[in-house]
Amino acid sequence: MKKFRRIGILTSGGDAPGMNAAIRAAARAAIARGVEVYGIRNGYQGLIDGDMQLYTNPSELRNIINRSGTYLYTARCDEFKEPEGMAKAIQTCVDNQIDGIIAIGGDGTFRGATDLSNHGIPTIGIPGTIDNDVTSTDETIGFDTAMNTAMTMIDNLRDTCESHARCNVIEVMGRWAGHIALRVGIASGAAAVAIPEIPFDEEATIQKIIEERKNGKRSFIVVVSEGLPGYAEQLAKTIDARTKALGPKYWVETKFARLAHVQRGGTPTLKDRLLASEMGVAAIDYLFEGMSDIVICKVDGKIGYKNIQEALKVDRMFKKKMTEHEYDALSDEDKAWMEARCEKVLGDMKRLYQIANEIS
Ligand code: F6P
Repeated sequence: MKKFRRIGILTSGGDAPGMNAAIRAAARAAIARGVEVYGIRNGYQGLIDGDMQLYTNPSELRNIINRSGTYLYTARCDEFKEPEGMAKAIQTCVDNQIDGIIAIGGDGTFRGATDLSNHGIPTIGIPGTIDNDVTSTDETIGFDTAMNTAMTMIDNLRDTCESHARCNVIEVMGRWAGHIALRVGIASGAAAVAIPEIPFDEEATIQKIIEERKNGKRSFIVVVSEGLPGYAEQLAKTIDARTKALGPKYWVETKFARLAHVQRGGTPTLKDRLLASEMGVAAIDYLFEGMSDIVICKVDGKIGYKNIQEALKVDRMFKKKMTEHEYDALSDEDKAWMEARCEKVLGDMKRLYQIANEIS
């Protein structure tokens, strides 16, 4: 068991509901093991500036599990990527006896965690992002809440669509990933879902809307991932124009809506609070076992971890951004698990996409 004097916890990148539960869990687990905790404000920027709060008692982290946003605030920090910024961050750790860090966020946060680990500060990443775009884990903190928020907003749009016999094309977040769109589309009874991972049949969607309008259907919802930039707005115009051309009887007036950052707020769901609590405690366990440069994952219901470089590589493989050179340099063992993982994640998406189409 490695000995720690103090550890730091930070959140970085986009906030995600449930981050506070992760902060609370990691801080309390560390304090329970006799270690003091610095809550570092504004992500890596706070580490550079020495902007921190010391916690020595679990009661100092009261009443945050139910709050959204991040209690420690967040930032995307370019200075940290520069050698001078990193040197200042390391100096903050040395001056304040911080000899381990828990960094909660997405892939940018994990890159920072690797840099800190390489500079001798053991750092562990926890996946906190609504996008669920960390391929090596089944779920990220914030994903469930964001989906529920989007679903509720879409239910509200459905109400007014039904009254006015309209269609609404709704863009949901997810950066380059369609995980939110896919699940929210199914859960809100969308007529169609468009995501970056699977080709979308626009013509079939328009024909389906026309047919159903002829059969008396009043309201239509189409969910589009922001990973298809600008497409939701364009599709709304197309559906509107194509159906208008059929005459007033079959015109499906179509509006566009972008849910945007509303998806990042709201009370974290039980699922996110639980995942965050499990991951927060696991991060401390692994840190105290002497591990570093890893990201906590949950696969098939079991908490584990992946080396951050491997996690970033499997992300690139999934997004088809891995270069040939990078692929050739992988060991056979790495190729095997990474390909299996990508196949599994894409397979799950295809299965859900088929369901979305079948029951829409
Ligand atoms: O990564 C979370 C996320 O909300 C994405 O879904 C979205 O693309 C992005 O962050 C928005 O970033 P910002 O908060 O900087 O506008």
